[in-house]
Amino acid sequence: MANKQQQGNIHLPLGDQRTARFYGNDILSVKQFSKEDLVYIFEVAHEMREMVSRIGTFDLLKGKILANLFYEPSTRTSSSFTSAMERLGGSVIPINEVRYSSVSKGESLPDTIRTLECYADVIVLRHPEVGASALAAKYARKPVLNAGDGVGEHPTQALLDLFTILAELGTAENLTVTMLGDLKYGRTVHSLSRLLSLFNVTLRYVSPEILRLPQEIIDEINQKGIIQTEHTSLHEILPETDVLYVTRVQKERFENPADYDSVKDAYVITPEIMQQAKEKMIVMHPLPRVGEISMDFDDDPRAAYFRQMEYGLYVRMALLAMVLGKAKK
Ligand code: NCD
Repeated sequence: MANKQQQGNIHLPLGDQRTARFYGNDILSVKQFSKEDLVYIFEVAHEMREMVSRIGTFDLLKGKILANLFYEPSTRTSSSFTSAMERLGGSVIPINEVRYSSVSKGESLPDTIRTLECYADVIVLRHPEVGASALAAKYARKPVLNAGDGVGEHPTQALLDLFTILAELGTAENLTVTMLGDLKYGRTVHSLSRLLSLFNVTLRYVSPEILRLPQEIIDEINQKGIIQTEHTSLHEILPETDVLYVTRVQKERFENPADYDSVKDAYVITPEIMQQAKEKMIVMHPLPRVGEISMDFDDDPRAAYFRQMEYGLYVRMALLAMVLGKAKK
């Protein structure tokens, strides 16, 4: 019988799993990645993109099972991990309605993890508490992938965000990246700003006063020698921006609804506003959007947020193949 490599014409060597980079590893924070790691991840993601366009679904992870455990709402992250696993020939245990699982009976996260790893080879976890994935990883013998831990991090999103920048603009070097919206609670911003600090970028942060990026993240990025500036108005920096990363105000994280109401409509990207921006630049958004980018802008070639979702599939396919030892160095 042909091996999986021959079956799918995939170029990823399958040899000795123990030497595969990331084999058996957790993915908990972008802090774990070097630039070299990123090059490797994106090479594999490119292969995945080609394979999907050529043959759609193939058997690289045949027989492997993913437990997709979501304690918070999700459309894109959850379904792209499911699609990624199934396109690689694997299967998925979906647990996205934790109220129908034993969690609603009061089961602890470690016990739920211990259970799922009896049945699955890899666990994807989204949880409302910072550090939940790290806790799960401590108890799990199988790889745990952080799909968002409260206001902490969202490392797989940051990887797909960076992949989008590279695919759309060809480089991440010498770019001005402007992060807009809820920088305090937005975990995608926490991960992406850290990840971008591996490159020679300028970071501009635009937010209402009460939603500024946490100081500890600014300090961390400062240590890498990255230029960072904070603003409350987009106006002055839009013309120099290469990547405008727009985020939703994270309503569910606010203790006081009046605070949310005071900032929820702080910024709206419209075709008129975008006349101030470069012709060659991109607008990204992790989605869902709730009004911060006008639908009138969707047909603009600079609107990259729908393409960004598709790149997510390839990056998550790459990550699953890597942690399960099917993509070798
Ligand atoms: C983001 C998240 O869950 O942090 N969504 C996503 O994963 N694409 C952003 C958000 O919810 O605003």
